[in-house]
Amino acid sequence: MQKLKLLYEGKAKKVYETPDADLLIQEFKDDATAFDATKRGTIAGKGVVNNKISARIFELLDTKGVATHFVKLLSDRDMLIKKVKIVPLEVTIRNIVAGGMSKLLDIEEGRRLKTPVLEYHYKEDKLHDPLINDYHIRALELATDAELEEISSSSFTINEILRRFFEEKNLILVDFKLEFGRHKGRILLADEISPDTCRLWDKATNEKLDKDRFRRDLGNVEEAYQEVYRRVLG
Ligand code: TMP
Ligand code: ASP
Repeated sequence: MQKLKLLYEGKAKKVYETPDADLLIQEFKDDATAFDATKRGTIAGKGVVNNKISARIFELLDTKGVATHFVKLLSDRDMLIKKVKIVPLEVTIRNIVAGGMSKLLDIEEGRRLKTPVLEYHYKEDKLHDPLINDYHIRALELATDAELEEISSSSFTINEILRRFFEEKNLILVDFKLEFGRHKGRILLADEISPDTCRLWDKATNEKLDKDRFRRDLGNVEEAYQEVYRRVLG
């Protein structure tokens, strides 16, 4: 499948049209940003790692009955996806307190939560993706009741599948972010699932093996991405 017009360029990916109006190509870049792109850099090899890890996870979810936008891997950095209209929500699931929740509620990172926490953030960079709840979403018509029910139940299902998957790779799934899109009247899981969008800690040492190494200048950023790649695909 060939790349036609560049449709959209984001912080970590480019999206191209293809000869099929229902399909797009998603290209993963090495560019990394944090804190609403006030921090910028590159992580060598990240695009390849995130493309292949995302593909592996989308395939896994597909076998478990979770509908995704993934069609197939095309090359090191490219995947073929179904064209969706993104629901303007970032859905975060947390198993262990870290990052935003640690700051919001002044809880030390690393506390295991009694039950998983689901957060919705309104996907709007200029507002810094503010935390909202299901009442905001319905009142502002960002998603219908039925869509929200599907998005939330699917997110918890994905958490159970991925928690087990990463555990087998000796990785703790601390938290992660999902995006969903509309395609021919259905809700599909979209975007990517990678060390950019998940917090993954080594099970034995709690070492951070995800984008926090870049966000927090912890060093060994490339090595962490390669280590997750090795464990997930090795
Ligand atoms: P947070 O603790 O900063 O809210 O992040 C929660 C999870 O979401 C974490 O795994 C990183 C991921 N995330 C993204 O994928 N994109 C983002 O823009 C942010 C802020 C977080
Ligand atoms: N939303 C962040 C950014 O601006 C990315 C992140 O922290 O993952 O660039």
